[in-house]
Amino acid sequence: MGLSTEMSLRLVVAQLLLLMVANAALIAKPGCRKECGELDSIPYPFGTEAGCYLNETFLINCSTRYSPPRPFLRKSNILVTNITMEGRLQVQSLVSKDCYRKNNKTPANFRIGQFSISETQNKFTVIGCNSYGYIRGKIGEKNYSAGCISSCERPEDVTDGSCSGFGCCQIDIPEGLKRIRVEANSFKSGQNVSQFNPCSYAFVIEASQFNFSSSNLSSTIAKRVPTAVDWAITGQGNCTEAKNNQSYACKENAVCYEPADHSAGGYLCKCQDGYQGNPYLSNGCKDNIDECKLGIAQCHDHADCVDIEGSYRCECSKGYNGDGKQDGKGCIPNQLSMTMIVLGVGLGFVMLLVVSSWIYIMFKKRRLIKLKEKFFQQNGGFLLQQQLSKRSGTCDTARIFNVEELKNATNNFDEKRIIGRGGYGTVYKGFLIDNNPVAIKKSKIVDQSQIEQFINEVTVLSQINHRNVVKLLGCCLETEVPLLVYEYVTNGTLFEHIHNNDNAPTIPWETRLRIAAETAGVLSYLHSGAATPIIHRDVKSSNILLDDNFTAKVSDFGASKLVPMDVTQLSTMVQGTLGYLDPEYLHTSQLTEKSDVYSFGVVLVELMTGKKVVSFDRPEEERSLVRHFLFSLKGGSVFEILENGTVNDDNKDEMREVAELARRCLRVKGEERPTMKEVAMELEGLRRMNKHLWDNVEVNIEETEHLLSETSYACNYGDVSNSTAAYNSMKDHALVSFDGGHTMTLFEPSTTQKWQE
Ligand SMILES: *[C@@H]1O[C@H](CO)[C@@H](O)[C@H](O)[C@H]1NC(C)=O
Ligand SMILES: *[C@@H]1O[C@H](CO)[C@@H](O)[C@H](O)[C@H]1NC(C)=O
Ligand SMILES: *[C@@H]1O[C@H](CO)[C@@H](O)[C@H](O)[C@H]1NC(C)=O
Ligand SMILES: *[C@@H]1O[C@H](CO)[C@@H](O)[C@H](O)[C@H]1NC(C)=O
Ligand SMILES: *[C@@H]1O[C@H](CO)[C@@H](O)[C@H](O)[C@H]1NC(C)=O
Ligand SMILES: *[C@@H]1O[C@H](CO)[C@@H](O)[C@H](O)[C@H]1NC(C)=O
Ligand SMILES: *[C@@H]1O[C@H](CO)[C@@H](O)[C@H](O)[C@H]1NC(C)=O
Ligand SMILES: *[C@@H]1O[C@H](CO)[C@@H](O)[C@H](O)[C@H]1NC(C)=O
Ligand SMILES: *[C@@H]1O[C@H](CO)[C@@H](O)[C@H](O)[C@H]1NC(C)=O
Repeated sequence: MGLSTEMSLRLVVAQLLLLMVANAALIAKPGCRKECGELDSIPYPFGTEAGCYLNETFLINCSTRYSPPRPFLRKSNILVTNITMEGRLQVQSLVSKDCYRKNNKTPANFRIGQFSISETQNKFTVIGCNSYGYIRGKIGEKNYSAGCISSCERPEDVTDGSCSGFGCCQIDIPEGLKRIRVEANSFKSGQNVSQFNPCSYAFVIEASQFNFSSSNLSSTIAKRVPTAVDWAITGQGNCTEAKNNQSYACKENAVCYEPADHSAGGYLCKCQDGYQGNPYLSNGCKDNIDECKLGIAQCHDHADCVDIEGSYRCECSKGYNGDGKQDGKGCIPNQLSMTMIVLGVGLGFVMLLVVSSWIYIMFKKRRLIKLKEKFFQQNGGFLLQQQLSKRSGTCDTARIFNVEELKNATNNFDEKRIIGRGGYGTVYKGFLIDNNPVAIKKSKIVDQSQIEQFINEVTVLSQINHRNVVKLLGCCLETEVPLLVYEYVTNGTLFEHIHNNDNAPTIPWETRLRIAAETAGVLSYLHSGAATPIIHRDVKSSNILLDDNFTAKVSDFGASKLVPMDVTQLSTMVQGTLGYLDPEYLHTSQLTEKSDVYSFGVVLVELMTGKKVVSFDRPEEERSLVRHFLFSLKGGSVFEILENGTVNDDNKDEMREVAELARRCLRVKGEERPTMKEVAMELEGLRRMNKHLWDNVEVNIEETEHLLSETSYACNYGDVSNSTAAYNSMKDHALVSFDGGHTMTLFEPSTTQKWQE
């Protein structure tokens, strides 16, 4: 709506401008007057003076006899009121009248020479009641004659605007009339109407200038009426012929045409499109309009308007084809740019997709990282990091794994990878990038208050470099619950080997004794050998893992407690496994190292008897293995409950000693139980006695070397002020002597020496 209003406004302005331009353009020949009286425009080929018109035919006699001067056509008395370049003249022709009273007729003659009366614009008109009129003329050599009768009896009979015989009569005139005589007449018998219609009138009038009114019957009609006359350049034939004539009237930038509604014959000239001015004058047609600036130019949106002489050009902008005109073909994107556009849009879309999904992924990643950081912090990661960084980094202590590593290792914690479920979490088998098998323990939710302790455990455990302790490789704190990564021990648990009779061949007594000795050694080490004493708290056969050589690997420190150096007993929530649980601890909730001794005693009994610690399948008095064992031992029938095939003549004494040791371990009062160190030494002694000396030496050299190489990884701890005391005390325990003169080296003295530097 607004657009079209604006458009039409622009067009009006443009037309006004064009009009001004046209008026300013040449109309008359230079130096000739171009107006006369009320006729304000006399365009060439018309002219008022010699040299100002094309030839005599176009002479306008501007008579100064009148004031203002009046323009007459040639030498006639025909007054010219309008001249148009479209081949029209408006002249005043005389009216013929016949009045009753005066009884004299005034016929009117009208000759216009080379021009002709326009047959399309004019009508022969008779006005009056009881009237008739003639029109006579010549068309070429033909005589022409026609008449029109108009009658009415009462003034009421006539209708305003209607010229159809009642008081007014009109007929068309033929083509090519050049000379006419019109004559008005009255039927004398009709004198009665003279009351309201005193005269009859006849004239040729430009139809657009006449609208019959009943008042025309009574009032006097003007002496002259406007008549349209066609003019043209004649005598040279049609355009085709005239173009070759020397006198061809159309000048530069003008074209010849033969108007259809024209009876003058010959031709007319007009300026070419885009030019304005007088086509009959040399240089009359001028391009003094800038179509682009005027806003007439109608170019397509994708086209530039270029003003050229006489016209304008629409040039499609780059990448477009076509004529550029709004009403023409316009501008269409050419194939290449079309594909470019499609490609561009497509690419843009893809880019958008990529960018947005990238942003989304980044956002999610950030959230994940935030979460991981939260868990890391919550799980005491910074504390641990601090602890670990205190140790100068060259050593093989625990690593902090990131969660991706462990996810990859366990195939995203696949159910199929689960190798154990304990009270403290789930254990998965996994493979690190270097294809080393590891056991990954997913802890149960940790109590926030125990975080520090957990960290300590991890740090301490990571430093326990004991061949009979499952090695902690590291942990991951980025998950909600901490993940612990252990070395993978291949041969299952001791429990499985003792109690799964189906497929496990019974372990020979010597091996059992070794496993017991090794386990005791570990516990002894934990209780006194490690930096801070550790109470394992959950010693049982299912926490003793075995490798392919049936070497014991104590595991599951999930419940373990670190006991500060100056504290001998610790009050905790009672925790442990039924059957292995120290009854004193159960009663008092006072945790001491002796609780582990009791549990170890149970394991010893288990090893000897091959029976489950608690079994409801057995008769009531035998349900608790410990009670049954102690009872049998007291009754002297201990050999009856030992596992078939383990007892023979060679090891009877040994068995008895182990049984005795177990009994001591299982004493109700913790104080009366031996320490783990004593137990370990005793078992080791038994083991060695059992073998030939030669073999012993062999084994021990090998073992010592093995341990030496293992401990050579031991860390250069640097100055750990807080831990120095602990490690110093560890040095004291570093050499654990066993009877028989053999020494089991846990840490190489020289390495220990190094720590103090
Ligand atoms: C114009 O007309 C008058 C008479 O009406 C005549 O005397 C005069 O000569 C004419 N002028 C020309 C240039 O023909
Ligand atoms: C002459 O006639 C043209 C076309 O009919 C008209 O536009 C113009 O206004 C007329 N000029 C005069 C002065 O009457
Ligand atoms: C035309 O009319 C005139 C008289 O009005 C007459 O003299 C002449 O012969 C006529 N011409 C023709 C061709 O009839
Ligand atoms: C002629 O005049 C009558 C009334 O005088 C009027 O109703 C009519 O519209 C007019 N016709 C033209 C074409 O001017
Ligand atoms: C003309 O009028 C007179 C009286 O005024 C009347 O006698 C006569 O009949 C009328 N004629 C016609 C033709 O109506
Ligand atoms: C006819 O009457 C009307 C209205 O009175 C007037 O304007 C007009 O000029 C008259 N026509 C002629 C040809 O005189
Ligand atoms: C003058 O011009 C008219 C119209 O073009 C033409 O018919 C006539 O022959 C010309 N007269 C002369 C003398 O050239
Ligand atoms: C050229 O026009 C004149 C009149 O202007 C005419 O007399 C002459 O015959 C024409 N010449 C040709 C070749 O048509
Ligand atoms: C012009 O006139 C010639 C001869 O009279 C005729 O052959 C030709 O067809 C005419 N051209 C046009 C466009 O009327």
